[in-house]
Amino acid sequence: MLILGIETSCDETAVGIVEDGRRLRANAIASQAALHAAHGGVVPELASRQHIRDMEPTLRRALADAGVTLDEIDVVAVTHGPGLAGALISGVNTAKSLALTLDVPLVGVNHLEGHVYAGWLVPSDVSPAEEPGFPLACLVASGGHTDLILMEGHGDYRLVGRTRDDAAGEAFDKAARVLGLGFPGGPEIQKAAESLADFSEDGEPLVGAAAPLPRAWMRDTFDFSFSGVKTALLHRAQDVGLYPQREHAEAEADRLVANLAYQFQESLVDVMTAKLLEMADRYKARGLVLGGGVTANARLRQRVLAESPLPAIIPAPVLCTDNGAMIAAGAYYQVLRGEVSDMALDVDPSLPFGVPA
Ligand code: KG4
Ligand code: ZN
Repeated sequence: MLILGIETSCDETAVGIVEDGRRLRANAIASQAALHAAHGGVVPELASRQHIRDMEPTLRRALADAGVTLDEIDVVAVTHGPGLAGALISGVNTAKSLALTLDVPLVGVNHLEGHVYAGWLVPSDVSPAEEPGFPLACLVASGGHTDLILMEGHGDYRLVGRTRDDAAGEAFDKAARVLGLGFPGGPEIQKAAESLADFSEDGEPLVGAAAPLPRAWMRDTFDFSFSGVKTALLHRAQDVGLYPQREHAEAEADRLVANLAYQFQESLVDVMTAKLLEMADRYKARGLVLGGGVTANARLRQRVLAESPLPAIIPAPVLCTDNGAMIAAGAYYQVLRGEVSDMALDVDPSLPFGVPA
């Protein structure tokens, strides 16, 4: 079964093609990052309009990469929420037109469920391994969500923890802005944190910037909170002369930024790793799944792999950030359950995911 998956919930226009739920045949992505970078964040109106321009070439690229024509597509899947309303509408309308014209089923997929199923994808020339046993402890961390989900079977999700304020990705993006780094902030913070090694040779103590930032452990809950560490970073940046203006020569400013980026990343990664592992233990999970843009973070991936006694499914970074293949993968298991949509499919910007535990 060939499923074409369309994703336009935020600032990526993406079309993926997946065979039998797991084999990745194509994953075409047109990123709008450069368009939004000038504004320091995603501008919804600009995002909607750019999706309209990028959809047709992205669709053609996906078909060419997979070496198939539209009439070979068996199912059209699309993200219908959560996300930006105008952005979602452009994907859903494209999917409806395609499904109607090709006379194939239409499947609306929850964006967060798609992030989980990114872990099921394998290169098209590889035979899929055995499916991991359930239950699985999943961390879905993106620009809009930081959820701990217990997956007890296909389509069976319990929401065990979530952020009470900023999402992890949002915190990375805001931190990058404070430190004068680019957008999206996560990869920039990671790069700055990694550059700390370049400065470590001189061994000079860095007053303020080198001290750890707080961790919001929020004991006795699997919920997260990232607004405190974000404010702590802002105050630290002010104290060391990085914000609102950089008061140092370039090399010194870079060194201070590297230190603060490192400390910020450590704070978030520490809490996410610990809570995921604790949740897995509490619910006797048989494996872990990471998904969402933030799980592209190299330090988070390294820590989870190093500390988990369980097998961990960690998609390649390009499958962690938004893409259409993950939507096609999620749709496959919906089709197996007979859960297809009809032409009344609407967008839901705040579509929930998982039954509260
Ligand atoms: O899943 P995603 O592509 O889009 C949403 O569904 O929101 O996630 C985007 C988020 C952004 O906040 C971005 O800064 C963050 O993922 N991100 C990262 C990294 N790459 C992307 N955060 C930390 N480290 C990264 N390497
Ligand atoms: Zn996402």
